[in-house]
Amino acid sequence: MVQNVSTFVKRLKISKLLSQPDMKATTDLYEVIYLSTLAPDVSVSVVADITRKAREGNAARNISGLLIFDGLRFCEQVEGAKKDIVALIDRVRHDPRHIKFEILHHGALNNRRFSNFSMGYAEVEDPDVLSQLALLRGQEALDALTALLPTLDLYA
Ligand SMILES: Cc1cc2nc3c(=O)[nH]c(=O)nc-3n(C[C@H](O)[C@H](O)[C@H](O)COP(=O)(O)O)c2cc1C
Repeated sequence: MVQNVSTFVKRLKISKLLSQPDMKATTDLYEVIYLSTLAPDVSVSVVADITRKAREGNAARNISGLLIFDGLRFCEQVEGAKKDIVALIDRVRHDPRHIKFEILHHGALNNRRFSNFSMGYAEVEDPDVLSQLALLRGQEALDALTALLPTLDLYA
């Protein structure tokens, strides 16, 4: 009987845990896609540091996304609660490690595109890929990024 009660209590705790809202189920999902260029005086070696810290910061804020780097340009997509994304973009925009920060697309999102990644990372070798993307805005930029995804080797 004692065992049964403790099993019951354990089950209650587990079911309470399970019924807590999914960490990833953000109601007002918002995304931003931007492009930028590594600052001239900054070494490529900072990219590892950026990705490591970005992963930690994004995981803490329930933000997911993808960073693409071609050796010179960055393209990042970030998604999460609107207030968190706006605050993140405000920090990233002023980061001196990159310049020519330009938003290609921003808007509401129904489902996360990268729910498995607090920040996925991919490198592209062809410099034309991101320089072509730089010319696009809004839905066209979104479509070009979506078309690019299957060609990338993504690292979580
Ligand atoms: C190209 C690039 C992408 C970045 N992406 C992120 C990101 O996704 N998440 C993040 O927390 N910081 C990112 N950062 C780092 C931020 O600019 C900033 O250093 C970091 O959020 C820490 O800010 P704080 O020192 O004000 O807390 C990125 C920086 C660069 C240059």
